[in-house]
Amino acid sequence: MIKIIFVCGTRPNFIKIAPLMKAFKAEEYYNTLLVHTGQHYDENMSKSFFDDLNIPRPDVNLEVGSASHAVQTAEIMRRFEPAVLDFKPDYVIVVGDVNSTIACGLVAVKLGIKLVHVEAGLRSFDWTMPEEINRILTDRISDLLFVTEQSAIDNLNNEGIDSDKVHFVGNTMIDTLLANRKKARKSNILKQLGLCKREYGVITLHRPSNVDDTEKFQTILLALNEIQKELKLVFPIHPRTRKNITSMNMEKLMDGMENLLLIPPAGYLDFLCLLSDAALVITDSGGIQEETTILGVPCMTLRENTERPVTITEGTNHLVHVTSEDILKNYHEIRDGDKHNNGIIPKLWDGKAAQRIAQIIAQRKPT
Ligand code: UD1
Ligand code: UDP
Repeated sequence: MIKIIFVCGTRPNFIKIAPLMKAFKAEEYYNTLLVHTGQHYDENMSKSFFDDLNIPRPDVNLEVGSASHAVQTAEIMRRFEPAVLDFKPDYVIVVGDVNSTIACGLVAVKLGIKLVHVEAGLRSFDWTMPEEINRILTDRISDLLFVTEQSAIDNLNNEGIDSDKVHFVGNTMIDTLLANRKKARKSNILKQLGLCKREYGVITLHRPSNVDDTEKFQTILLALNEIQKELKLVFPIHPRTRKNITSMNMEKLMDGMENLLLIPPAGYLDFLCLLSDAALVITDSGGIQEETTILGVPCMTLRENTERPVTITEGTNHLVHVTSEDILKNYHEIRDGDKHNNGIIPKLWDGKAAQRIAQIIAQRKPT
């Protein structure tokens, strides 16, 4: 029996962990424990994903909540250590690049437990991003690194990570998308919001570099103001961003945008339905760049860089400088150009990444 702790803590983690839980439960030689750090805790940032994706209830919830980076990371470590000591796993599996990822990774390796990083090797080369720090440090201490695209293999190779530890398996976030695409078509979110297929855009924003900086945030909102004059926009708003709208006194600007629907963070199936039928997506999310590539929906990523270059070289993603001119220029190009394709499938983004991971770990004997 191989004992494994799975760690999740934030919205994108739940989406990446769902197929892993399924794949490992299917193999009888695994004994698993699911730990939720509690980094995200609102019903619509956490529980709704367990419901929509049939993820088993976490065995342990560390309930850390929100705090500064140092306090949150330290508190996750402090609360995670007893769970590891108690369960005595052979492996701890962490996903993505959030504070929960590095915090639990550090606890595992310091206790001599093998660490597995799912979605390893992605690099934006931008050290001002908290996620870049989390990614690089997690990869450095991991014993097994599962990657989603060739750039990740190249990055890990350049950093001197032993290639025997690195496995190209595909993308567990896309496993979830493919497994739920049909179900998402049944969502009636478009009807609820009065939207017609391909006649609206979806907005998501939560990167501190965009929404914690008043000037940048205002620049984005002013550009959205122009776009919404000709295209309905639906904006499921992340709690960080909602707070900033209030603290930066942007409510009046938001209220003035008659064609922009501000809604709470959407559940996974509703959101997948919204994405699938959108005319375009404007985002700063990591995962949404990948999802729009598979869905064939044009995506404007309001960032200077991306850690997911395959979404640009093979997919529908466009990097857009955070200036009014660039946002509007890209919008006009998409509006006037070839809008959709049938969705491109980057190598191994075939819905089987989690199964490959479960099989690779099964072939290794715990030491
Ligand atoms: C975190 C991740 C980011 C990821 C994002 C996914 C880190 C450093 N950042 O960013 O990489 O892209 O999740 O969505 O790990 N809040 C609530 N309710 C919640 C959760 C958060 O109100 O359920 C509010 C709190 O005010 C909190 C703020 O949102 O301070 C930010 O939450 P936090 O988890 O620190 O960072 P995110 O911006 O969510
Ligand atoms: N998502 C969702 N509801 C929303 C916004 C996003 O279900 O209102 C999903 C989205 O489909 C993707 C994931 O959340 O699978 C991305 O999470 P987020 O953008 O918060 O984090 P990031 O990927 O940037 O780390």
